[in-house]
Amino acid sequence: MPAISFRSFAPADRAACLGVFDANCPAYFAPNERSEYAQFLDSNPGFYTVCVFDEAVVGAYGLKVHAKAKRGRISWIMLDPTVRGRGVGRQMMERAAQVGRGQGLAEIDIAASQKSAPFFARFGAVEIRRTADGWGPGMDRVDMEWRL
Ligand SMILES: CC(C)(COP(=O)(O)OP(=O)(O)OC[C@H]1O[C@@H](n2cnc3c(N)ncnc32)[C@H](O)[C@@H]1OP(=O)(O)O)[C@@H](O)C(=O)NCCC(=O)NCCS
Repeated sequence: MPAISFRSFAPADRAACLGVFDANCPAYFAPNERSEYAQFLDSNPGFYTVCVFDEAVVGAYGLKVHAKAKRGRISWIMLDPTVRGRGVGRQMMERAAQVGRGQGLAEIDIAASQKSAPFFARFGAVEIRRTADGWGPGMDRVDMEWRL
């Protein structure tokens, strides 16, 4: 597979990002999360990064840095099903860790689900809280901490 490239989110990526969300809903995101994601995109988050393959946006993730607290937060990480399972998620986590370390972060918070928590656990993230149906019916919220 040709290389995936990464670049900062731009407002023109909104529809493509929502398309990736839709491709992962309801399997990995609860339908009620869509409006929250759209609002997030509309805030033009400068820390959001998109993954590009064959000139199309096929995924995205964010790392919000709270420099004073030396903490960060991974947000809205997702890939189109057609590119999943090929190591792109690992690249996103490695990039987040590199940026986090560069900014002096000690820990990164992750709000996962019961379906994605095992992925984050592979990188050393630890579950600190689980809320049944926290994201919507059938979608538990799993709060995790990832020590860098
Ligand atoms: C989570 C996600 C970003 C991972 O991306 P990916 O490209 O499929 O992951 P990779 O191929 O880089 O996998 C890295 C490793 O994690 C493992 N892995 C991937 N997804 C996993 C999961 N859901 N549970 C357990 N392990 C998982 C892979 O088997 C691989 O293991 P290996 O290193 O031993 O080979 C992607 O699957 C996705 O978009 N999921 C749906 C959206 C979602 O749930 N986002 C999280 C919201 S909090």
